[in-house]
Amino acid sequence: MRITFSVALGLAVATQAQEIYLTTTGYTARPQCTKSTTSTSYHFKSFSYSLEETVRYATSIPSPTTTKTYGPVYKDAAKHLKTTVATSTWGNWLPGETVISATDHNDPYGQAAWSSMWLGADLQNYTTTGIFSTTVSPTPVPTSELVLPPRDYFGPTDCYNFPDDFIFGVAGSAAQIEGAVALEGRSPSLLEKIAPADTPKDYVTDENYFYYKQDIERLTAMGVEYYSFSIPWTRILPFVLPGTPVNKQAIDHYNDLINTVLDAGMQPVVTMLHFDSPLIFVASDSIARHPDIGNVNAGYQNETFVDAFVNYGKILLANFADRVPIWITFNEPLLYAFNFKGVDNVIHAHAQVYRFYHEELKATGKMSLKLNDNFGVPKNPKNASHVQAANRFNEMQLAFFANPIFLGKQYPDSILHTLSGAKALNKTELKYISQTADFFAIDPYTATVVSPADEGISACAANTSSSNSLFPYCVKQETKNVYGWNIGYRSESYVYITPTYFREYLSYLWNTFQSPVLVSEFGFPVWEESKKELSDQRFDSSRSVYYLSYMSEVLRAIHEDGVHVMGALAWSFIDNWEFGQPSHFGIQGVDSETQERFYKKSFFDLVDFVKARQ
Ligand SMILES: *[C@@H]1O[C@H](CO)[C@@H](O)[C@H](O)[C@H]1NC(C)=O
Ligand SMILES: *[C@@H]1O[C@H](CO)[C@@H](O)[C@H](O)[C@H]1NC(C)=O
Ligand SMILES: *[C@@H]1O[C@H](CO)[C@@H](O)[C@H](O)[C@H]1NC(C)=O
Ligand SMILES: *[C@@H]1O[C@H](CO)[C@@H](O)[C@H](O)[C@H]1NC(C)=O
Ligand SMILES: *[C@@H]1O[C@H](CO)[C@@H](O)[C@H](O)[C@H]1NC(C)=O
Repeated sequence: MRITFSVALGLAVATQAQEIYLTTTGYTARPQCTKSTTSTSYHFKSFSYSLEETVRYATSIPSPTTTKTYGPVYKDAAKHLKTTVATSTWGNWLPGETVISATDHNDPYGQAAWSSMWLGADLQNYTTTGIFSTTVSPTPVPTSELVLPPRDYFGPTDCYNFPDDFIFGVAGSAAQIEGAVALEGRSPSLLEKIAPADTPKDYVTDENYFYYKQDIERLTAMGVEYYSFSIPWTRILPFVLPGTPVNKQAIDHYNDLINTVLDAGMQPVVTMLHFDSPLIFVASDSIARHPDIGNVNAGYQNETFVDAFVNYGKILLANFADRVPIWITFNEPLLYAFNFKGVDNVIHAHAQVYRFYHEELKATGKMSLKLNDNFGVPKNPKNASHVQAANRFNEMQLAFFANPIFLGKQYPDSILHTLSGAKALNKTELKYISQTADFFAIDPYTATVVSPADEGISACAANTSSSNSLFPYCVKQETKNVYGWNIGYRSESYVYITPTYFREYLSYLWNTFQSPVLVSEFGFPVWEESKKELSDQRFDSSRSVYYLSYMSEVLRAIHEDGVHVMGALAWSFIDNWEFGQPSHFGIQGVDSETQERFYKKSFFDLVDFVKARQ
């Protein structure tokens, strides 16, 4: 009996091994070959050198001939704002400033009040503002910069094309690229506060606030079609809350940014809040990283947050909805929401802004929010408890938002039974929140291998007082598969190249939430790229492998799995401020002394891949 049992077990393990291998890769070792290669004939011929490279150039986007509109112009849209908003300007708070020279101390929104926010932010090391102080005029990109790099030997083998309406573009976010943090009326955000002491800050970064025209010129020269960026709340409304004045310089700036994108023949994708939450929502002593998952308390749970965000969102829409086809309310809110109340607030705020957009403005563009979840895949897909762990991991990050927003369904039990203070939505709330997104936006950088916490999921989840590092997901995450191999080629950070899991993920999202999927960020920080010589930074083959393999899998998902993938936006269009980390995600690099940009090989490879399949 005992012997029979162990033999049977051995067989089971072997069978299982083979099946796991087949389901996770889906490929055979040898391609389908048409020519027979069994016979060889060696022979001489005359030798001559040949040029192995064909010179090709990237091609720019043509200038637009028509402008589409997606909503009312400001004059008409402003009638839908409840309060009339005064506009003002505040100028600059410069590094080393210790004296508030303004004398308008009785004006709650005056120069003195604005400056004191910077004093209060206590930025001891705010020492520099970069090299530009006005908008840089663009110059055309010389064709010599547009020669395609040598190809990698191995490349995609698919034969599919992208659908006509496929959105292809690149992405960045304000605090990570703009610099000019305290210039032209911007007030402090959380991001000036949270970067660890001795790491780089967001004060200067790529100076895109002044260099945006050149950045747009460089994107259009490469043939990019969509440009995704974010607008900082604290530029538009330095005093943040409803009823406070709007910063005229900020409205002018983003009007010009949007118009520059459109004039270049590209389309804007605009995010309202990308981590740069106004500092005022968080009492400074409670700004803390979540000890477990690195989350930050961005004040989303603050009782004033929902009304304030909705007011801000409406002001953005009134000003810009006429020209912007795609809107994102929140970027990856889970990372900064910190707790149940934070997410619950985000969902309510999102729904109100969505309804204002479609029901009051009657705007015709699309709106959603961007979610994050490195796809949890069961360590052993044959083990039911591993599958359960992966389901829980994905559900807590996605269905938390997507159940009510996409499906009109209650928060998942995993949330209601695990997070303290969690409360079910009532019928009225569910009805209001249901169907308040036009597509599913996901930042699916990589996959992570998941299995249950050692003590079991329910024991871990029940222990809310726990200092258990696996709480609240209560699953183990690994970067190795069940046989001990890394799940893919490793980057400088958490990203591994996992294209086949990415395809599976697209299928999971489409079939679970039944909405077209926009890959709103994906990218790869090459290992220690910042330490490499410029020419080696530019030759970023591993990033090319990442992008081309993921894009190939997008095509397979569309054509073989029937998944509606709406588009893909590469993160990031440029190396930028990565929250103090040295990681480079850019498909362009930057010389930090001169702010000169340079295209990397992966940028050419990615654009070339897409253009060849349109
Ligand atoms: C400011 O800079 C000094 C010297 O470089 C450093 O010791 C200190 O930690 C910095 N403080 C902050 C808040 O970044
Ligand atoms: C909530 O935000 C308000 C600003 O609207 C701020 O005054 C208050 O201190 C915040 N509450 C907490 C607990 O941080
Ligand atoms: C399934 O996984 C759990 C947790 O890792 C483990 O305790 C259990 O032995 C596994 N079951 C089988 C049949 O492999
Ligand atoms: C549903 O919840 C909302 C928000 O908490 C509350 O204002 C409303 O009264 C509740 N409605 C019902 C029917 O319980
Ligand atoms: C709760 O978690 C802590 C930390 O992991 C552990 O020491 C404690 O025994 C757990 N309590 C229960 C009731 O499981």
